[in-house]
Amino acid sequence: MTKIVICGACGKMGRFINDVIKGRDDCEAIAGIDKFGEAYDSFPVVKSAAELTEKPDVIIDFSHPSALDELLTYALTNGVPLVLATTGYSEEELSKINKAAEQVPVFFTFNMTLGINLLAELAMKAAKVLGGQYDIEIIEKHHNQKLDAPSGTAIMLADAVNSALDTKCEYVYDRHSVRAKRTKNEIGMHSIRGGTIVGEHEILFAGRDEVISLKHEAHSKQVFAVGAVNAAVFLRSKQAGLYNMSDLLAEI
Ligand SMILES: NC(=O)c1ccc[n+]([C@@H]2O[C@H](COP(=O)([O-])OP(=O)(O)OC[C@H]3O[C@@H](n4cnc5c(N)ncnc54)[C@H](O)[C@@H]3O)[C@@H](O)[C@H]2O)c1
Repeated sequence: MTKIVICGACGKMGRFINDVIKGRDDCEAIAGIDKFGEAYDSFPVVKSAAELTEKPDVIIDFSHPSALDELLTYALTNGVPLVLATTGYSEEELSKINKAAEQVPVFFTFNMTLGINLLAELAMKAAKVLGGQYDIEIIEKHHNQKLDAPSGTAIMLADAVNSALDTKCEYVYDRHSVRAKRTKNEIGMHSIRGGTIVGEHEILFAGRDEVISLKHEAHSKQVFAVGAVNAAVFLRSKQAGLYNMSDLLAEI
């Protein structure tokens, strides 16, 4: 039984994590952390990690970058693995995460779905075969409340594709500002915002007289919660280090 603490327990993702844990028999939520929330289920919700009374096997965090310092202090002091799913970390915060991973297991990814991480691997394979000859464009679609563009996941996919190319591409976000033909060494990035779209990512490899398209659609935020709980169970028995979905996929 993996004992889990949910940080950001009262938020949208925290509640999905609780639902997913309840549907499994190999883990249980023993507490929540939420700076601005109250208990809503059978487990207590505290304001910060320092107030936890029972040591968990893993903490899953879907909260805010401001929670990071307290989480890292708790994890390092108590030797507790961390699944970090919060987005929007600064470079300084990312380096703190990397440093902490030298002492405790840390699972970190911009996108917790197995599907997106599988998509990244398929796109790398396609880039190895088609790169150089096919134009690569990434299109992402999200709901009208999203603040950042392109999405962190689109950048993650572009980085994966780029890592598989012999000649590295630059990312072009704004064709409107330059009236010039597309060059071979670029990946076009396009963001669409509207309605309640949970998240769509498509990678196009456009060649002469053919287009290959790799696409993932998230229809509910639940898929992120499923991935995060899988990551927590995976991380529980690991040595210190920085892990991501590729490591989890490699074990499936
Ligand atoms: N990696 C992924 O796959 C993935 C998927 C979905 C969401 N996210 C990220 O997860 C985070 C949460 O998303 P959400 O939709 O649940 O947001 P939300 O605003 O609904 O919930 C965030 C919760 O965190 C709490 N919180 C804020 N600051 C805190 C702090 N310092 N300490 C403890 N709790 C704090 C808030 O009170 C709130 O209940 C965001 O950063 C989002 O981008 C990541």
